Amino acid sequence: MSLRFAAPAGITVRLGPDDLVDGLRAAVVAGLSSTPKTLPAVYLYDARGSELFDQITRVAEYYPTRAERQILGTYSADIAAASQAEVLAELGSGTCEKSRILIRALIDEASLTTYVPFDVSEGTLRDAAGAIVEEFPDLAVHGIVGDFRVDLDAIPAGRRRMIAFLGCTIGNCTPGERADFLAGVVDVMNPGDSLLLGVDLVKDPDRLVAAYDDASGVTAEFNKNVLVMLNRELGADFAIDRFDHVAHWDPVNEWIEMRLKSRGAQTVRVTALGLSVEFADGEELRTEISAKFRVERVRDELVDAGLEMVGWWTDAAGDCALSLGMRR
Ligand code: SAH
Ligand code: AVI
Repeated sequence: MSLRFAAPAGITVRLGPDDLVDGLRAAVVAGLSSTPKTLPAVYLYDARGSELFDQITRVAEYYPTRAERQILGTYSADIAAASQAEVLAELGSGTCEKSRILIRALIDEASLTTYVPFDVSEGTLRDAAGAIVEEFPDLAVHGIVGDFRVDLDAIPAGRRRMIAFLGCTIGNCTPGERADFLAGVVDVMNPGDSLLLGVDLVKDPDRLVAAYDDASGVTAEFNKNVLVMLNRELGADFAIDRFDHVAHWDPVNEWIEMRLKSRGAQTVRVTALGLSVEFADGEELRTEISAKFRVERVRDELVDAGLEMVGWWTDAAGDCALSLGMRR
């Protein structure tokens, strides 16, 4: 019997706790003084937020995780054959739960050598990278703690790299942010590299709203946790039970908005910023958009960024899709 020891995952930290709080301060000043009030979705993912998202992936109403797992289970070999990727960099990798299916297929079909999980949530990234090392001892694993809006240049060089952006997370960007993000991705890609992009598809609004307002209240807790984080990080005094979770379908923009609605008029102090924020009765703070897509929009946005869409796979119910864009 031979014992094999895997090399531990290397980790590059591009975004430490201090950088995160600096960004948060600027985002809170801008977002809580604008009309309507907004916060960037990235701040939903502190340690507790990441745990709550993991719970969301298992609630009955939240179909995207199951749908994407089904697509990967059915088509990973095709995706691997089309990309021939030797390096897989996964943006917003979270727990890397579904990534295993893709990693296995890329090892079998395309001699994958290196896996690069990339996430803003350092604890989640370290745990996930460690678990991947245990499961795939021959794979080089190099994690990046960073913001995919600014740190894409940290992705290591390599032959035929695939950048995967799963979980429908691109939907959390506004159209302008998406264009900037895709341009940034293409900027770091070489000819022969590919982008595997997961999207949630437009569907019955009742199902969409239920997916973002589950009966067990996990999504409500995920949403309100952003206020808990502001109280902790910036010495704010949000009374959590004076805000209600709202999931609103916007049929024009074809996106869900997660909002926090003020119960009554109230003033919130943010001590670290010397800021007082007035909320009118019923006023809403937007914490996330989650855009839903049609194939035409995905193809157009990939082409506009300079990629050719060479693959499109959906789950059996047609709820979600994975597209593969190639840089020629
Ligand atoms: N890909 C996983 C997780 C999706 S949840 C899945 O399919 O289940 C979104 C993930 O993106 C979280 O892990 C969150 O921490 C990460 N994230 C959100 N905004 C980010 C940003 N700007 N830069 C890097 N990671 C980000
Ligand atoms: C990570 N992202 C794609 C999730 C979504 O569906 O927009 C985040 C989420 N928000 C509420 N539930 C899940």
